[in-house]
Parts: sequence; C-alpha cells; structure tokens
Amino acid sequence: MEPDTSASVSHASKLAQANDAVQRAVPQRRDRWYPAYHIAAEAGWINDPNGLCFYKGRYHVFFQHHPYGVEWGPMHWGHASSKDLVTWRAEPIALAPSLEADRDGCWSGSCVVGQDGRLYAFYTGNSLSRDPNSPLRRRQTQCVAVSDDGINFNKLGVVVPGIEPMEYFRDPKVWLQDDTWCMVVGQRSAQNHGQIALYTSTDLLAWDYSGVIYEHPDPDVYMLECPDLFELQGSWILCFSAMGMKPKGYVGRNANNAVYVVGNWKLGDTFEAKGQPKPCDAGHNYYAPQSFEAPDGRRIQFGWMHSFQFEAAEQEDGWCGQLTLPRELALKDGGIVAAQPAGEVSQILTEPREWKPFVLAANERRLMAHDLRCGYVELTLDLASSDAERAGIEVHRTPDGSHLYVAYDAQTSCIVVDRRATKRGNRGYRAAPIQSDAEQLKIHVWLDRGSIEVYANDGEQVLSELSYPSEDPCAVVLASEAGQSSIASFVLRELA
Ligand code: FRU
Repeated sequence: MEPDTSASVSHASKLAQANDAVQRAVPQRRDRWYPAYHIAAEAGWINDPNGLCFYKGRYHVFFQHHPYGVEWGPMHWGHASSKDLVTWRAEPIALAPSLEADRDGCWSGSCVVGQDGRLYAFYTGNSLSRDPNSPLRRRQTQCVAVSDDGINFNKLGVVVPGIEPMEYFRDPKVWLQDDTWCMVVGQRSAQNHGQIALYTSTDLLAWDYSGVIYEHPDPDVYMLECPDLFELQGSWILCFSAMGMKPKGYVGRNANNAVYVVGNWKLGDTFEAKGQPKPCDAGHNYYAPQSFEAPDGRRIQFGWMHSFQFEAAEQEDGWCGQLTLPRELALKDGGIVAAQPAGEVSQILTEPREWKPFVLAANERRLMAHDLRCGYVELTLDLASSDAERAGIEVHRTPDGSHLYVAYDAQTSCIVVDRRATKRGNRGYRAAPIQSDAEQLKIHVWLDRGSIEVYANDGEQVLSELSYPSEDPCAVVLASEAGQSSIASFVLRELA
C-alpha cells in the first residue's frame, strides 16, 4: 500500500515550535514535587508511556506529552533515553501533529526495531471531524514513523485505517511473533463493547486484519485502551486500560483501570482468559501501562503515575504527570503477575541502614527518620508473632501532621495505603489483599518528592500514589495499632 504522507504542515517546524515552548517553560517550573528520579516532562503535561524499547545501545521511553500547557491537549510524543534504566536524559520531542490523519494528536503507541535495523514508531493519529453533520466526532487510524537514530522520526502516514472509520480505535502495540509482526489495537464495537483487534504484517507497512481476539465480558466496559499482549513464563498476559468498569471490591476503583488477565493465546486464535482481571497496580494513581522485552529477556513495564480523574497539585508548578519506575514482571502462584522495580534502579540509593529485629509495643509509634523525602524504606513484619490490628509506616510526615500511612491490616489481610491525613491532594484509601498464608509481610516503599510506590511481598501487590508534602522535613514513623508488632527488619536508604 501507499502510505499517506499528505503533510499539512512540516513536521520539523511543529517539533521546533513544541521544543521551544518547553524550553521557555522550564525556567518557570517549581520543583516542590518534581520527581528526583522518576520520568517526567521538563515542563508541561504527560500521560501514557509510549514506544518503550532498547535501540542502538539505549533504552527509549516516549510518552504522551502536551508541550503547551499543564493540561491534556493535542498530543505529542515526548522522549527520554537512558543507557542503564537508571539515569535518564531528556530528548527532543519525537512526534508532533502534522499530517491530516494526526492533526489533532499523535496518541499512544509502541516501537519495534524492524528487520532492516530501523526503529518503527506506531501511534494513533487522532483527527477531529470538521463537518458538524458527520456521524463521527473524530477518526482514529494507526500511523507509523521511522527513525535511524531513535531521536529523529520520519512520518510514513497511515498504515492501518481500520476496517471502517472509527472514533475509538487506538494504541497500537506491535511485536514480532515467530516470523509475523502482530499489532493489537483497542476498539469500541458498534454495540459499545471494549474489544482488542489483531492485525498482522510481514514488512511492518502492509497490515491484514485478523479479527477480534478479545472482548471484555463486562457490558459496562466500552473501550480497552493501551492493549498489551505478551508471553510470561509460558502463559500469555493481556493487559489493557478499561473504560467503564465499575468498582467491585478492590478492583476497578479508579475512573478507568489498568488490569491484566492471564490466559492462553496463539497466532490465529482468540485470547482464552483464565480467571478474572486483576489490577496491575491497586493504587489511586496508575494507568495506561506498557511493557517491552529488555535485551536480557526481562519483561519491563512502565505506567503513568496519575489519572485524568484526580487533582494534580503540580499543575500550579508548570508541569504535570510522571511515570512509575521500570517494573520487572514475574508470574507467581495463583496467577498473580508480580511487579518489582528493575534491579538496577537500586543504584540510585545509598547503602542500606538496617535495624536489628525489634518489637513495637501496642500503640507505639517510633520515629525512624527526621527527613526522608526521597529514598526507600523497607519493613518486614513477622506476622506469626504480631497481634496488631494494623501496623505500618507513616511517610512524608510533615510537622503539620500530613502523611500517607502504608500499613498491613491483619483483619482483612490487606496492604493499605491510607491518605486520610494528607493536607493536600485527594484523600481516601486503598486496600489490596495479600495471600494470607504469608508468614512475613515485606513492605517496600519508594519515596520521591511527589509520589510513593509501595511494593508488598515482592510485588504481589503494588500501589502507586501521588503525595504532596509541604517543604518542611518529611519524617518516617513506624506505628503499631491496638496490639504489638514484631519487626523482623527495617531498612532505610537515601538517594545516593
Ligand atoms: C490513555 C489514552 C490513550 C490515548 C492517549 C491519549 O490514557 O486515553 O487511549 O491514546 O491516552 O493521550
């Protein structure tokens, strides 16, 4: 097929204008909550991680980016790269709206290295209808851009227009399956069901429709954004960000929800789900994850640590949105996909300071650090010899009493993040179940200036939360409620 490259404006001039807007906004940015080690835009808004890949010796993370404001707007692809997944370098914006097909946004998508050694970025072109009588408000199509250096992209236009014009048809995720290129795309069916369609190709440019491989069983779910399908330890994992899901227990509590389903799949078949969808992350601030395979075979996932639904205090400061740490995925017993920070990330921390085992008396609270705004804490609770109703760690505790409480609730066997004491940002709490046969509970918390990531029992549950402490010192306090807690170990690490 002939790619559509009918450029309405030069891509280069749109990129120059967007990069310039960001550079002009950077000096105005305030860094109260600007991440010390998470990926964010230098200024402006970001959402989903896009195009995750390793190319010519560097990791590349692209992201949905609005360079002209702190709110969502016409989407560009922002870009950061790293040689070690630890230290990130801001790169110029990679994609800006410039074609007829993407004139209202270069939406989410993915990158692959083609057999020709070039980097192919697949993304959704979003184009709003100019005709008020049109039955479609907008049209979404899948486009491609190609690069030889991972930095500068040349747009080749639409490669997957869809079998009919569609409003909800987006977020192509491409991978090589044996000798066939596969692309999953999320779509809304005519009957308002969330579906995932598959397209296949031999050359990355001509794509054939292979049908719908998954339809969400819940009639409330009308769209599956950001699909991702990959093999993990012999099973297939289908991740997507569902729109329309209603809360049920601890699942589906955000406006839109990133979940995974474990199952079976092979080329030519539909996805066969085993079990129910589970949250990729049970926190308030997590959405639109994407994964890729690192050169050493690890499956690494990044998520957007925010959501469209919650207050974002950092908008006052000239930026908005950040990504999670890179998380390595592993399939555990009980069909749980555990997520842990990629091992190399701990290089950013100082050597661990470790306490000997000790007991916290009933209702005791103990100050462990006067000021740890950024860093890492690790609590291992001996559940067999503890009888506290709840025990855990208060983090980002400022003198005004504001803090987030990360705790184990023994009555419900849940890991809890309670934000009721926060003075800024949203309140509420989340509670995610821990497999109850565990004898010890490990709670690992990564603290950044404006967020926390909680990993329980090696990532069996993960909760991402934004946090907006004041500029005063941020204490770390242990607490044991209505019963004693046996602390097998407590570890603290600062940012190196
Ligand atoms: C998910 C999402 C994607 C879309 C992008 C637009 O957060 O809505 O479906 O491609 O964001 O920014």
